[in-house]
Amino acid sequence: MKSFYITTAIDYVNGSPHLGHAYEKVLTDVIARFRRQQGDQVHFLTGVDEHGQKVQASAKRKGMPPQQFCDEVSAEFRALLPRLNITNDDFIRTTEERHQRVVRKILQELFDRGEIYQAEYQGFYSTRQEQFLQEKDRLPDGTWPEIFGEVTEITESNYFFKLRQYQDWLIDHLTKHEDFIFPRYRQKQVLEFLKEPLNDLCISRPRERLEWGIPLPFDANYVTYVWFDALLNYYSAVADHPGGWPATWHVIGKDILVPPHAVYWPIMLHAAKLPLPGGIIAHGWWMQRGAKMSKSTGNALNPLDLVTEFGADAFRYFLMREMNVGQDSDFTREQFLVRYNSELANNLGNLVNRTLNMTTRFAAGVLPAAEVTEDLERSLQELWEKTRNEFIPLCEGFQFHTALERAMFFLTETNAYIEKRAPWKLGKSTTPTDQALLRTSLATMAEALRLAVALIQHVTPTATEKINAVLGYKPGTVWLEELNWGQRLVGSPVAATLVLFPRPLPPAPATV
Ligand code: ME8
Ligand code: MG
Repeated sequence: MKSFYITTAIDYVNGSPHLGHAYEKVLTDVIARFRRQQGDQVHFLTGVDEHGQKVQASAKRKGMPPQQFCDEVSAEFRALLPRLNITNDDFIRTTEERHQRVVRKILQELFDRGEIYQAEYQGFYSTRQEQFLQEKDRLPDGTWPEIFGEVTEITESNYFFKLRQYQDWLIDHLTKHEDFIFPRYRQKQVLEFLKEPLNDLCISRPRERLEWGIPLPFDANYVTYVWFDALLNYYSAVADHPGGWPATWHVIGKDILVPPHAVYWPIMLHAAKLPLPGGIIAHGWWMQRGAKMSKSTGNALNPLDLVTEFGADAFRYFLMREMNVGQDSDFTREQFLVRYNSELANNLGNLVNRTLNMTTRFAAGVLPAAEVTEDLERSLQELWEKTRNEFIPLCEGFQFHTALERAMFFLTETNAYIEKRAPWKLGKSTTPTDQALLRTSLATMAEALRLAVALIQHVTPTATEKINAVLGYKPGTVWLEELNWGQRLVGSPVAATLVLFPRPLPPAPATV
């Protein structure tokens, strides 16, 4: 069995989870389920990032001790997961002992080997991004880009990790592993960033300025810089499992690729003599009215509202269908409703209704066998082969939006097949030929439905399960075998109805 370890970023607990956080969990879950159903031994980690100035400040604003604040907000992040049908195997909090122990151990090792030194730090800091800035980060007019929020200048004695000496090693690694970062154009951006000399990384905060962090094991007057602490979660969560590390993929947003994940993290691992992860998937941003949705700017959308209204499957489907992994997407309710109505309620929902209704009406609710293969059946089966053969590699390449488009096209064509066969007309005829065609059409639409929902089950697990149940079908354990066109439903008793994606919905408000 191939082991496959996948992680999400760990979210800052400075505010409630929003659509962007939900998207990252869903994307990672879809990949995890996809590997699991192909037999990989999957380990899926997610969690929360609880230290740092940003969290300390949010707790202070609420007038709460930071640990209590973290407990409350972390519970909210954790509660989101089952609502989205996320199949994570572990949930890590950076305040946990298992994590702090590993961070301190690695810091001590690096310190003992001379990879960390003390020096005066003078420079600029963005609390919003928990990141040190350099002169080159300024805009041409001298101001700082909006994403950094408020920027402060600090001068203090601190500890530094010797990042710079590994710059050439990192360039070499990226050059030899062209697929380290997905999408590939982002890897080019990292190499571009590495053309400028790196500064060593300041990894400490004096305690008088920041209390809320992991104390440095070699100097109790300091706590660990939040990124140095947070990145290590991927390792600390599996440090005790033999064969647990390295990760196969880290799934993160593009805002935290350079420098934390693409520069600090590989160098930290290399300096700690640990293997590197297989790669990093950097997804784009969900935007609202052209601005990145975020906790700090207050334009965030609560994913739970959509899940409550439309169900987890519709939500997952929309996120995967709409976004091309790596690029940004604007979220609008109108667009959500368009896809919900046309693709789920109409296309998939109609096929379900027709299959159940007509089997009930014309075959006493028991699925018959297909008896003839004419051109209509043959071309639908051929389309199925093509759809399945394209769908799988598309998912392997994280092109879920295109994969789902192909699956939808197959459903559209299945509905078109029903129109052409017109079982309702065949049902009025008593000739043996028409009766054989009628039974064939019922068997064909049911088989097409079974296959289509098996294909997309990693995106819509609940709908797939419900449809299998109303078709009286128990899928086998080998997913790829489930995708062969066959006669698996013959003799299956079907339910009379299933309301999956309820209609009608109020019309979308007119946009100006
Ligand atoms: O960055 N669209 O935490 P975070 C899509 N704690 N993804 C979005 C998004 C949006 N509008 N807004 C945020 C942190 N994200 C650190 C990570 S990892 C060792 C430490 C994504 O709560 C963002 O890109 O600000 C990131 O991957 C994740 O949500 C958590 O963001
Ligand atoms: Mg952020």
